[in-house]
Amino acid sequence: MTTRILFVCLGNICRSPAAEGMMRALRPDLVLDSAGTSDWHVGAPPYGPMQQAARARGIDLSALRARQVMARDFHDFDLILGMDDRNIAGLEALRPEGNTTPVRLMTDFAPERGMDHVPDPYYTRDFDGALDLIEAAAWGLAVRLEDGPPSGF
Ligand code: 4NP
Repeated sequence: MTTRILFVCLGNICRSPAAEGMMRALRPDLVLDSAGTSDWHVGAPPYGPMQQAARARGIDLSALRARQVMARDFHDFDLILGMDDRNIAGLEALRPEGNTTPVRLMTDFAPERGMDHVPDPYYTRDFDGALDLIEAAAWGLAVRLEDGPPSGF
């Protein structure tokens, strides 16, 4: 079965669409999506500065549109990755009773970076720094996927 991975941040206009686009560049065969814990930007394309920074790395985010994460996502995806602890808390609050879908931090897949979250570039304005971290974690995730099934997360 195809591995289905959902990337989650707060607004779904900076970090998680970047993670989705980066991962799609590495593994176009997987089912990938992104969502936000908030409904603040539902229907909006990724934030312009993030689109620009991603485009400079050959990643086109322009077709993506923000949506809010929902309880059904726990059934529709095999692995859900948050960008920081606030995202993880928002996700856990939505988890359906009895559901065991793994929810992890994106940075877990780039331990060599020594970061426990992807800083929000909407506030830090460091879009390239966020992309560096997201790119490293996407590579780490791709390597993990080569090693075994998503149940191993
Ligand atoms: P994201 O960044 O969670 O990486 O998409 C944000 C984008 C917008 C806002 C917050 C975070 N906002 O407050 O509108």
